[in-house]
Amino acid sequence: MKPSSFLITVASTLGLARSCSSSVISHSQRSYDYEDVSYSIDVPQNTSSTGSGPIYLQLRAPPGVKWFALGQGSQMTDGNLFIIYSAPDNNVTLSPRRATGHIQPQYDPSIQAYLEEGSGIHDGIMTANIRCDNCTTLADGKSAVQKSTSWSWALTYGPPLLSSNVSETLYQHDWHGSFTLDLTKNAGSNFSNPYYVPLRVSSHLSPYSNPQQVSDTLLHKKRIAHGVMTSVAFVLLFPNFALLLYIVPSRRTVAWIHAPLQAFAVLLALAGFGVGVSVSKDLQELGGYHPVIGYVAVGGVVIIQPILGIMQHLHFRKTGTSSLYGVSHRYLGRFLAALGIINGGIGFHYATTKNPDIPPASPIAYGIICGAMFIIYVGVIAWRRRKNNRQAASIATPKIVENKQPLARMDNCSDSTLVPVPSDAVNASRRKSWEP
Ligand code: HEM
Ligand SMILES: *[C@@H]1O[C@H](CO)[C@@H](O)[C@H](O)[C@H]1NC(C)=O
Ligand SMILES: *[C@@H]1O[C@H](CO)[C@@H](O)[C@H](O)[C@H]1NC(C)=O
Ligand SMILES: *[C@@H]1O[C@H](CO)[C@@H](O)[C@H](O)[C@H]1NC(C)=O
Ligand SMILES: *[C@@H]1O[C@H](CO)[C@@H](O)[C@H](O)[C@H]1NC(C)=O
Ligand SMILES: *[C@@H]1O[C@H](CO)[C@@H](O)[C@H](O)[C@H]1NC(C)=O
Repeated sequence: MKPSSFLITVASTLGLARSCSSSVISHSQRSYDYEDVSYSIDVPQNTSSTGSGPIYLQLRAPPGVKWFALGQGSQMTDGNLFIIYSAPDNNVTLSPRRATGHIQPQYDPSIQAYLEEGSGIHDGIMTANIRCDNCTTLADGKSAVQKSTSWSWALTYGPPLLSSNVSETLYQHDWHGSFTLDLTKNAGSNFSNPYYVPLRVSSHLSPYSNPQQVSDTLLHKKRIAHGVMTSVAFVLLFPNFALLLYIVPSRRTVAWIHAPLQAFAVLLALAGFGVGVSVSKDLQELGGYHPVIGYVAVGGVVIIQPILGIMQHLHFRKTGTSSLYGVSHRYLGRFLAALGIINGGIGFHYATTKNPDIPPASPIAYGIICGAMFIIYVGVIAWRRRKNNRQAASIATPKIVENKQPLARMDNCSDSTLVPVPSDAVNASRRKSWEP
């Protein structure tokens, strides 16, 4: 039973009295013949004017929904959660819970929420009419019934749970989302129980805003894609493609090998970054450490590194020497790769606080690969230095000793000034047939 297309419709329920209105948000799945999942919120005028008192919620779900929930606040951890699933005898179970992280929220008996008349399963449709007597404040102490209040919702498809155990184990939802309502503008009824008033969906639209809905299965795939793409780019590609300047020292290395391969790595990092931004939006956290460091590291490799690299290349074509461009490109490149790698570690930390089902082996493997990469990087540079020193010593002739040109000048065969190539290699390469 895979959801095909979703739409959110919002209508106002209209009681007998015109003034009795509450907001309804419906999460609907077009492929069903049944009605949509809908969430109605009714804040009586007394409650919204005094800031305390009962609020009324009505949650309805078609067959095929295993459990569904409405939460106060835009995040799971912001306030009370009202979770509904089927119970024996066509009853429904209301499990009021609190969440402390992105792990299964725990049943909280201090939430004074009760099922009211009309709750149950009728024609397969689960209906929960809920009255909550102390739900007017959020976890952070702010009012939950003011102008512009956020609500979140979640649902999972599957066979009925048929449980009256309020602590039933629930696995992660399939879809979740949020929306914002102005509860003062839409202040509800003066009825002590709005469910005695038949709730009907009218064409009148409630002032709701910022709807968001997220498929958790897609979110899961995006998280993996983000982690894999950015780690491959920063841990494997950037360092190894930089090392190619030491491994393959030739006049063509920068233009034919280093630059095109790094351009590919940049595209991969950029794609992984885009997926990461989408994940952050889904989680509504665009401002954490991990995203902000990511903007810096990706911005650097996408914009600054290619510019410095090309400037050094052009400078080298003209003068055959190193320049501030090359030196900055080298150290900034090493710094940005290291920053990206460390940010990957922060990313694992960040992800495990949101999602406990990340296997502990993956951050460990990541750390081992990063450590190995560091040793390889230092090792290759040391190997190349030693090799060049040995070659330089063995072919030392008075002519070279007299050469007072800067070290970089020796390398007029390689576009990179990183690897001074001994002069016999320079001459050998000059004799190559493709040399003019
Ligand atoms: C796309 C265009 C690029 C060009 C034309 C280019 C060009 C160059 C050149 C000419 C050098 C030698 C610098 C010198 O002589 O001191 C170099 C070194 C280097 N490049 Fe690039 N580069 C490019 C992209 C990148 C990117 C995106 C990175 C990302 C991290 C990068 C990382 C490095 C590093 C780390 C070194 C120094 C290697 C070391 O000594 O550790 N390059 N590049
Ligand atoms: C609800 O009752 C209050 C007084 O108790 C009154 O001021 C208000 O106009 C009433 N609202 C509606 C919609 O009837
Ligand atoms: C179902 O609800 C009815 C009416 O509220 C109640 O009398 C009955 O005991 C409930 N059954 C179970 C299994 O909870
Ligand atoms: C509800 O009230 C009880 C006591 O009356 C209190 O312990 C609990 O923290 C309150 N819950 C909320 C969510 O305000
Ligand atoms: C309710 O479910 C929880 C979690 O599965 C379990 O630990 C607990 O024993 C159950 N309680 C009852 C009364 O069955
Ligand atoms: C609203 O508050 C007033 C005054 O506190 C009270 O007389 C009235 O019964 C309340 N209305 C409802 C529906 O609770």
